[in-house]
Amino acid sequence: MSILIINGPNLNLLGKREPTIYGSDTFEDYFQKIQEEFGQIDLEYFQSNHEGEIIDKLHEKGFNIDGIVLNAGAYTHTSLAIADAIAAIKSPVVEVHISNVFKREQFRHHSFISSVCVGSISGFGLDSYRLGIEALIRVNKKI
Ligand code: DQA
Repeated sequence: MSILIINGPNLNLLGKREPTIYGSDTFEDYFQKIQEEFGQIDLEYFQSNHEGEIIDKLHEKGFNIDGIVLNAGAYTHTSLAIADAIAAIKSPVVEVHISNVFKREQFRHHSFISSVCVGSISGFGLDSYRLGIEALIRVNKKI
């Protein structure tokens, strides 16, 4: 089974970026842990600060892998183009957020991508990604 994690803008700064909200672990360290934990799964990781690059990656991988865990960062709240790309591909996409976006500013409460994802996970810190992978394992068992 193959799963791709995509992180959007500013998530390359995890560990340094607003640690009271996003924690002090780097994504690279966390990714190493989950690779060990889900040893039977072919896990890939991609990060970009550019909307078009995220769309290109969804197109490239979205017809040949078993699922995508996507934290689109602030593009969640702005990008119809990413929503259209998710709708266009075949692989199921789980939306994840590190913080609980519903406890935060009003502008973070709306997501353009929720309605085209299989589901959304928000507020569990970096464990949101782990839960996203678990969700995709279950989704794939039903296919
Ligand atoms: C985020 C929440 C977004 O509102 C924000 O713009 C991010 C990170 C999260 O993981 O909690 O960049 O997606």
